[in-house]
Amino acid sequence: MSDLPSTILVDDIGTLVTNDPALGRGAVGEIEDAALVIEDGRIAWTGPSGRAPAADARIGAAGRCVLPGFVDSHSHIVFAGDRSREFAARMSGRPYSAGGIRTTVAATREASDAALLDGARRLVREAATQGTTTLEVKSGYGLTVADEERSLAVAARVTDEVTFLGAHVVAPEYADDPQGYVDLVTGPMLDACAPHARWIDVFCERGAFDEEASRRVLTAGMSRGLLPRVHGNQLGHGPGVRLAVELGAASVDHCTYLAPEDVDALAQAAARPEPTVATLLPGVDFSTRQPYPDARALVDAGAVVALASDCNPGSCFTSSLAFCVAVAVRDMGLTPDEAVWAATAGGARALRRTDVGHLAPGARADLTLLEAPNHLYLAYRPGVPQVAAVWKDGELVA
Ligand code: NIG
Ligand code: FE
Repeated sequence: MSDLPSTILVDDIGTLVTNDPALGRGAVGEIEDAALVIEDGRIAWTGPSGRAPAADARIGAAGRCVLPGFVDSHSHIVFAGDRSREFAARMSGRPYSAGGIRTTVAATREASDAALLDGARRLVREAATQGTTTLEVKSGYGLTVADEERSLAVAARVTDEVTFLGAHVVAPEYADDPQGYVDLVTGPMLDACAPHARWIDVFCERGAFDEEASRRVLTAGMSRGLLPRVHGNQLGHGPGVRLAVELGAASVDHCTYLAPEDVDALAQAAARPEPTVATLLPGVDFSTRQPYPDARALVDAGAVVALASDCNPGSCFTSSLAFCVAVAVRDMGLTPDEAVWAATAGGARALRRTDVGHLAPGARADLTLLEAPNHLYLAYRPGVPQVAAVWKDGELVA
């Protein structure tokens, strides 16, 4: 039995972001001079401080901001090795290439399970100290049946949101037989990996998997009960977004190069009970010197937009969603409210989760206390550590 008090009152909150418009002002459901009550790891009550009910324990927020923990719906943190020199070369003008993935594949295959787990745990911890309370984790640096399966086993030790990405790139052994690699991914690799994962993903891009191969991978995973998500439109225009919408994927991620038809498709998908979310990865465009997608156009068209880190050693080695929020506001046309929503509630939509990403009664008590009076400071003070405390399921984790 835990000896935690069963109800905890957090009061004197300068700004509480609930992400529930019924509870407060604007799309982020903002309440000023607010309080909330946590009971058994869930939110039991939110409202003005003056009306807060009594509780077994009290935490005073001293006028600071409380918001939902970030929901980072896209990461590749099971890996070994380092690609900092590749990053430096890119900054000197060398373009990003998906071929760099093979460098990490070689290092990951060499690494022990314990080393992979240690690395993943360190990054989960790093993300948590920056306010991330839900983190999706993909495989994709093994590319053999055994190495993909053990990558997923490691991922499952650190998160419930596990994604099988055997179709990240064609494994080096199959360079001359890409069809054969798709047969492997959709056959024996899927057999071994499906029990460990919730999601199936594919890198639908020139140089990785074309539309037909991507459809094969996704539908094979779906036939085994995995839910689809897609890496698409990262390095150029292509079929990824439309394929994701066609298959009812929870999310299509990157969306750096969008044609008007892609924006339309995402807008139409937003009207469905379970939309295909456009998950933007500002850190990738930053770290690969790609153009930033027009998030403003997506929101104005009615698409559901999420922000995620894509934390990985190649295209973007940040775990900071605060950084992603700041870039999305500065360079992608989101308002601070929209960007904070996208990194919390948007991420939850991209993972088809209703228990995280908001702080209405019944939601998980996953919350961040900022060393700031309101959530605008996440974009207003870029690069400054502002997370004072983080709770997950009502327990202090950072
Ligand atoms: O999401 N786009 C494909 N995969 C990763 C990059 C992986 C890497 O470069 O190692 C991404 O950006
Ligand atoms: Fe990715």
